[in-house]
Amino acid sequence: MVILGIETSCDETSAAVYDTLQRKIIAHEVFSQIKEHAHFGGVVPEIASRSQLEKIHPIVAETLSSAGIKTCDIDVVAVTTTPGLVGSLFVGLCFAKGIAWSLQKKLIGVNHLEGHIYSAFLGADGYCVDLPFPHICLSASGGHTALYLVESFSSYKIIGHTIDDAAGEAFDKVSKVMGLGYPGGPIIEKLAAAAGFKDYYSYPRTKNLHDEIFFSFSGLKTAVLYDLVRRGAYDFKAGILVEQMTLQLQQEVSSSLLVCIGDIFENNIRCALKKYPQAQMVTFTGGVACNAYLRERLSTFCRRRKKDFVAAPPRFCGDNGAMIAFVGALKAERQEWADLYLDVRP
Ligand code: KG4
Ligand code: ZN
Repeated sequence: MVILGIETSCDETSAAVYDTLQRKIIAHEVFSQIKEHAHFGGVVPEIASRSQLEKIHPIVAETLSSAGIKTCDIDVVAVTTTPGLVGSLFVGLCFAKGIAWSLQKKLIGVNHLEGHIYSAFLGADGYCVDLPFPHICLSASGGHTALYLVESFSSYKIIGHTIDDAAGEAFDKVSKVMGLGYPGGPIIEKLAAAAGFKDYYSYPRTKNLHDEIFFSFSGLKTAVLYDLVRRGAYDFKAGILVEQMTLQLQQEVSSSLLVCIGDIFENNIRCALKKYPQAQMVTFTGGVACNAYLRERLSTFCRRRKKDFVAAPPRFCGDNGAMIAFVGALKAERQEWADLYLDVRP
């Protein structure tokens, strides 16, 4: 089967083609709207859906052309239906329905988070890799952060999640407070590297009392903010930086934040491995998994515990159509078809 995957849940317009015979992503295109939102320090839903509308057709056309196929060669159209921004989701869904209806192709709705969970099965060359079940997946991005026990291609359960912000949100918000731009993750990583990935300011870590698995990042963001106020760098009342922060302070804050989030990830994985000793390995997915420091840290952490570790390739970490095409293929094998009444669930 040839599966076209479409992902438009937030600020990326992406499409990919997965060939079940080759077990490979044979084409993959992503358009990121980052530049359109950077000025606002976050995603503006209205701008996001308009941009999705402009890009969906060219991106799908480009994907089919680089796969060397025509629309009539597609067997199944898989599309993200939840969770996400309603306007953005609708663009992808309506486009997918249009193809399915006009060419009498099968349609499949895919949960975006499932896409991230199973993206670890995609190798850097696009071929599907074999990973053992059950395993633990840490999925962290701008909208969600959770640990899952992945039992099979059709079954997984959430074993811990964030009670407030997502990890990516912590990077984005701290970056915004420091006046550094959006998205914060890559900017913070670069600054942290220059400061040697050291913990300068010991921001508070959530404590996993009784080995409870959960994440919390909103207090961390506030702790950074108060620290900047104490250092005279931020005017709390006016809600602005007193003046441009020194590069050294930017680097030290970024480094401390990244080390802190690394500790929080490790603590939760430690609790998860203790609670679920049957887990064969650990995977790391979602936009935050692009972070080379965190990939390296978690890899070392797992190696010491004699557990294999796989992070999704960076190009399949951020929002992408490849993971949607792949989960679409898994669902197609199980014949989990949707009808044309398929709706979004933001
Ligand atoms: O998966 P994704 O593209 O979209 C969502 O589903 O949210 O993740 C976007 C998030 C943003 O918060 C961004 O700051 C973060 O991933 N991110 C990173 C890095 N690259 C992207 N966080 C840390 N380090 C990075 N290198
Ligand atoms: Zn995502």
